[in-house]
Amino acid sequence: MEAKVVSRHSHAKSRGRLIVVEGIDGSGKSTQVHLLDKWLKSLGLRTFFTEWNSSEMVRGIISKGKRKDLLTPTTFSLLHATDFADRYERNIYPLIRAGYFVLADRYIYTAFARDVVRGCAESWVRKVYAFAVKPDVILYFRVPVEIAINRILEGRSKVKYYEAGMDLNLSNDPYESYRIFQGRIMEQYELMNRKDEFVVIDGTMDIEAQQAASRKMIMPLISGVAATTSGRSSNGYRNTQ
Ligand SMILES: Nc1ncnc2c1ncn2[C@@H]1O[C@H](COP(=O)(O)OP(=O)(O)OP(=O)(O)O)[C@@H](O)[C@H]1O
Ligand SMILES: [Mg+2]
Repeated sequence: MEAKVVSRHSHAKSRGRLIVVEGIDGSGKSTQVHLLDKWLKSLGLRTFFTEWNSSEMVRGIISKGKRKDLLTPTTFSLLHATDFADRYERNIYPLIRAGYFVLADRYIYTAFARDVVRGCAESWVRKVYAFAVKPDVILYFRVPVEIAINRILEGRSKVKYYEAGMDLNLSNDPYESYRIFQGRIMEQYELMNRKDEFVVIDGTMDIEAQQAASRKMIMPLISGVAATTSGRSSNGYRNTQ
């Protein structure tokens, strides 16, 4: 398979940067991206945080589809693509252009992994997302499935149907299904790692060590991006705090 992400937007004139975190559930993405956000803000840079499956516009229909078990792999994929496109066109792309450090907790690679595991053709999924710019850096938090699952399930009484990949009939036991599903997603990430220029961070390290490794990769991206004088952003968009 040789599909490449082709962008209809030129990144060349962008003044900001796009930093993406990827990895299986529980790999530590949100923990790390939150710390990166605080760090970049402390340097006086303007940041914007966005996460997978969070667009207000599509949220209702996705949760209704999930609740009623109505989604097929294709409709599941397209609804998530709509969520992404909404956030992309409204926030991600304009803010990169405006000089922000945009921090994405999951990006198109999450769709590539999950939708392919659900049975969509990789070349098709890549085409659906072909409008999206390539990130400046993709931090891939690599962690064995068992460790990640233990982190996630600690203190949780159950896993949700789609989260566990129950729609794939992998097992009647949600926990077993979740393990198999996450294992397959991990396989997809590992395949992508060979062609999508991931920066691998060892997700088994402690939080501080992973943060240090992540900052080291982002440091070279900072030069050339204008800092605000106050160290705080003043824009009309939602920023993480
Ligand atoms: N390096 C680490 N060592 C041990 N526990 C960690 C580490 N990093 C994060 N955790 C803990 O593991 C759990 C999952 O972390 P986090 O929410 O950052 O993962 P995630 O990749 O964002 O997961 P998801 O994909 O489900 O959103 C949290 O309880 C977090 O505190
Ligand atoms: Mg998370």
